[in-house]
Amino acid sequence: MQAKTPEQSKTILTDMVLPGETNPLNNLFGGELLARMDRAASIAARRHSRRIVVTASVNHVAFSKAVPLGSVVTVEAKVSRAFKTSMEVFIDVWIEDRESGERTIANEAIYTFVAVDDTGRPVSVPEVKPETALEKERYAAALRRKQLSLLLAGKIKPNDATELKALFE
Ligand SMILES: CC(C)(COP(=O)(O)OP(=O)(O)OC[C@H]1O[C@@H](n2cnc3c(N)ncnc32)[C@H](O)[C@@H]1OP(=O)(O)O)[C@@H](O)C(=O)NCCC(=O)NCCS
Repeated sequence: MQAKTPEQSKTILTDMVLPGETNPLNNLFGGELLARMDRAASIAARRHSRRIVVTASVNHVAFSKAVPLGSVVTVEAKVSRAFKTSMEVFIDVWIEDRESGERTIANEAIYTFVAVDDTGRPVSVPEVKPETALEKERYAAALRRKQLSLLLAGKIKPNDATELKALFE
């Protein structure tokens, strides 16, 4: 299988925040943003693997900035690293100033998807070939995040989390 760049899986969803999607402070409801990010990330994982993909875990979400009613929200997802059957997808969320059009980063998240066959069994995916400095940085740290996620899910033992142990040595 030929390696693919993160750019090849890039997926951009742009949409508005409507009244039914907000919390009592008139900001975007967190669950709605999680769903938008899941959708974009799942399309990115499909573009990378050309397979059916399922969300295996949400590794990190930072709701660092509220997204007010009426905002134009852009969710950008790219596969940052692929392992055997799983893919880490990085998601950046931007909001756009109505008058200037200037974009500011509002949130970010990291999801893990697994490519599966028609019966739901995991199948191999192509490798990722990072190009930009940011893509290389995200690629390099992805194994550490995978081990942390597996450790928290109780799927590996602390001794097997080699990348995490290295942090404390
Ligand atoms: C995701 C799923 C396919 C994994 O199946 P599994 O039997 O655990 O398969 P494996 O143990 O072989 O794991 C497959 C890959 O997922 C990775 N993985 C599994 N759980 C993970 C987790 N919590 N965090 C990070 N990676 C994980 C494994 O490391 C492995 O990666 P690799 O092949 O790239 O090394 C299975 O748990 C599933 O179908 N879950 C439901 C998915 C779903 O319905 N999502 C939508 C929720 S509404």
